[in-house]
Amino acid sequence: MRKLILGKTKTPVSAIGLGTWSFGGANMVGKHPVGWAGQKDGDSEEVLINAWGNGINHWDTADVYGEGKSETIIGKMWDRVPRKEIFLATKVGWDRGPYSYWYEPKHMLKNLERSLNNLKTDCIDLVYLHHCNFGKDDEHFEGALETIKDFQNKGKTRFIGLSDWSSSRILKYIERCDPAVIQPYRNVMDDDYLTSGLKSYVDKNDIGVCFFSPIKHGLLTGKYNVPTSFEQGDHRSGIQEFADKEIIDKMKHNKVMLKERFDRHPYPEMRGVVDSLFNDCPTGCVLLGQRNKKQVEIASTLGELMTDQDSDWVKSLYRNEG
Ligand SMILES: NC(=O)c1ccc[n+]([C@@H]2O[C@H](COP(=O)([O-])OP(=O)(O)OC[C@H]3O[C@@H](n4cnc5c(N)ncnc54)[C@H](OP(=O)(O)O)[C@@H]3O)[C@@H](O)[C@H]2O)c1
Repeated sequence: MRKLILGKTKTPVSAIGLGTWSFGGANMVGKHPVGWAGQKDGDSEEVLINAWGNGINHWDTADVYGEGKSETIIGKMWDRVPRKEIFLATKVGWDRGPYSYWYEPKHMLKNLERSLNNLKTDCIDLVYLHHCNFGKDDEHFEGALETIKDFQNKGKTRFIGLSDWSSSRILKYIERCDPAVIQPYRNVMDDDYLTSGLKSYVDKNDIGVCFFSPIKHGLLTGKYNVPTSFEQGDHRSGIQEFADKEIIDKMKHNKVMLKERFDRHPYPEMRGVVDSLFNDCPTGCVLLGQRNKKQVEIASTLGELMTDQDSDWVKSLYRNEG
């Protein structure tokens, strides 16, 4: 597995990081599905052991994944995986507790301490502010930043990160937050990381960057033959593209094209869709969700750079230019 330096953290991490959102299982917040149905804890444990064995040393979780379940599964592994060999990241911010807004300092602190306890560690390598919804006139921004910085000053996290689904929102707060690492949404179909100007800021300031949902929760692999629905508590039931025949057909077609182009790779569609994200980001890694041993085996074959020509070809295929 290729290693890269995660920007100003100066820490070597695997090009492919392990996303553990699915470890939390099916989950609802009010009427909204926010989890992944059908996950077995035994599979999650096997994923962690095999990821470590294959050099995937950067693990990403959050306090809200299964309301702490993903963190707890990770925290039980330190008798089988050496804690010091893993770059461990979690997030805080999506659990409001009894408050009507996010990032109430007292509640944040409680959840940060809970993450330490769940993860069974004295210090988490990286803690992100999970999103950039800081309220009207950013009224909760300073409180959130102070709380996470205080946590860092007490030696409970090494680095502070900033995340959001929208790269423009990350860009709006990046200077004031001064994160060591950011976590934006990016895949070959959705790339406001580039168009928002965030990429340019990251490159100039040597910030580490970890792209999430690189295969759009599985959609971009072309593995779905027909429009698909998901069980209760699975967030993919809220994503319209999984139910859109035209998009499903297009993904199947692209899979065939990738098989031709990358025919020397054992998993050509993953090679194309994932590895084309690395070319223009020297401080960047990809957080790939892996639910079982087989998906870890596939992830372990990824992470190598490709030519700019190949990368541009893949991106144009998914932006309907190919
Ligand atoms: N900061 C944030 O707000 C935020 C938001 C989202 C995600 N994240 C992080 O980023 C990580 C990854 O994002 P993601 O889980 O949304 O999506 P993703 O990585 O794009 O997709 C992962 C899913 O694709 C399927 N898959 C994995 N390997 C595959 C393979 N080789 N062939 C076919 N299908 C495969 C699996 O689901 P099936 O087996 O069910 O198909 C897996 O759960 C998360 O786990 C989380 O750590 C962060």
